[in-house]
Order: sequence, then C-alpha cells, then structure tokens
Amino acid sequence: MRPSALPTAMLLVGTLAKSSSITCADGLYMVVARGTGEKDGSGVTGSLAEDIADRIENSIVEPLDYPAAFSDPNYMRSERDGVETMQNLITSYHKACPDGKIAVFGYSQGGQVASDAFCGSGGIIGFSQRAALPISLVEDSVVAIIVFGDPSHVAEAPYNRGTSQKNGVFPRQNITLCEDNYTGIMRSYCDTGDTFCDLGDDGEVHRLYISNYGDDIANFVVDKYDDMMRKTTATASGTASASASASATDDSDNAAAGLAPGLALATIAPFALTILGLLL
Ligand SMILES: *[C@@H]1O[C@H](CO)[C@@H](O)[C@H](O)[C@H]1NC(C)=O
Ligand SMILES: *[C@@H]1O[C@H](CO)[C@@H](O)[C@H](O)[C@H]1NC(C)=O
Repeated sequence: MRPSALPTAMLLVGTLAKSSSITCADGLYMVVARGTGEKDGSGVTGSLAEDIADRIENSIVEPLDYPAAFSDPNYMRSERDGVETMQNLITSYHKACPDGKIAVFGYSQGGQVASDAFCGSGGIIGFSQRAALPISLVEDSVVAIIVFGDPSHVAEAPYNRGTSQKNGVFPRQNITLCEDNYTGIMRSYCDTGDTFCDLGDDGEVHRLYISNYGDDIANFVVDKYDDMMRKTTATASGTASASASASATDDSDNAAAGLAPGLALATIAPFALTILGLLL
C-alpha cells in the first residue's frame, strides 16, 4: 500500500539522488507520463516513444515515476505528484544537459500532468496550483509536448487535434501561456466520445490515439527535433538560463483556499469524480 501523503523531505531526497545520476542523451530525451492505472513504465505511449527512438539515434525513453493512481493516493494528489516530479525531472535534465533536447508525452492522467507542467495548473477547481516551467527553459530544450485524452482538455485550445469539440472532465481555466507560447510545439489529441477529455460515453475512443495518430505524431516530433537541432547548431549555445529554484512554486496544498484535500475532493468535483470512478 502506498502511503497517501509522501513526506516532502522524502520526495526531495529522491529527486536529488536521481539528478546526480542523469545520463544526457545525444539524441532525444523523451519523458513519458502514463495514464491512470497503467502499471509502472511508459504505458501505451511507450511504443510510440520507442518508434521515435528508432529514428533519432541515442535517444532515451524516461517513464515518469509517479503514482498514476485514482484512489490510493487520490487522483488529485497523484496528479500533483506527477506535475512536481515532471517539472523537477525536466529542470534537472536541462541543468545537467544544457544542450539536451526533450520531448514530453502524457496519456490520460499523464496528459493532465504534462499540461500542468507546461501550462501551469490553470485554475482547475480542486487541484493544487503550480506555476508552469519557465518559458526560457522550454524554448531552449523542449521540441514537442504531446498529450492524449487529457481530462483537462478545453474545446477551444489552438493546439488541439482530433474531433472533440467539448471540454474534458476537469477543464483547464487558463490556457493563455500554452496558447501564446507553445502552439507550435504542443498537440493535445482528443476525439469525440472520449470519456475523459470529451465527457463522452464511448469507452473505446480513449484507447485508440496511438493507433490512430501515432505515425503523424512520430513525424511531428522528429521534424521538431530536426528543426531545433538546425537552430541550435546555427547559433552559439550555452546561455545559462533556467535555475532549478526559479522553475516553479508550489502553494503546497489545495487550490480551494484552505479546504483539506479530502474535503475538497468530496465537495468540488463530485460529478467528475463519480464519472471517473464508474469508469475505472
Ligand atoms: C492566465 O495565465 C496568464 C499567463 O500565465 C496570466 O498572465 C493571466 O493573468 C492568467 N489569467 C487569469 C484570468 O488568471
Ligand atoms: C509568450 O507569448 C506572449 C504572447 O505572444 C508574448 O508576449 C511573450 O513574450 C511570450 N513569452 C516569451 C517568454 O516568449
């Protein structure tokens, strides 16, 4: 059983220990955040990342180590752990490997994790609020941000792909940063009927993104990587920009000003959680 509240100190030690053993990829460093309930590793998105690794020599696929849980710990806490871990991982990687190129993939809960890490928590009710990764770090190092079936999907985002015209279960309230700054590198896939990103009722849709869009995505990521490599070799690199401590601030607890997480969970999004619960 996983304790529902992992002490911050433990998390910190884990993160520091990891950052000292970072291996810089000569190719692309791919961070993959799996969906709720997928077992440890990179989940269904792993095959896509491996396909890309076959096309970009010396790439590394790095599964994000986070709970991806629904109830133990609860979804909101699990998701928050994911965002924190992803931001720390990317910040540490960029620090250790300043010329390194990164792509991020997130499926389902992992999609919300990736969206929060780059767009900021966006005021999604019931979730803790966390600042986005610094834009300068992303511009220096991130070639693509790909999410599938993201519960925080919003219908009007310019980086959307797929047929959905609806919001997801936990629609993001503020997409300004990603809309303004990452539309060129970000893609959020959501098809009509997806229970999580489209509030639909077709359980199959959520599972089909890689088979429907995988080839397009692989081409997109490889193109973006090539573009950035051309840019990087054309300009002198090496401006030390992002500092780890400046990357993100955590308000350390729940968004809903002062509500205990359990209470917030019970009161804020009962409808959405009921839907998720029925589906799992
Ligand atoms: C939305 O996010 C942007 C960029 O982070 C910020 O400047 C803006 O104030 C936010 N808008 C609201 C209504 O919170
Ligand atoms: C992000 O996008 C906004 C709107 O286009 C722009 O004003 C801002 O300078 C961008 N931020 C960075 C750091 O490029």
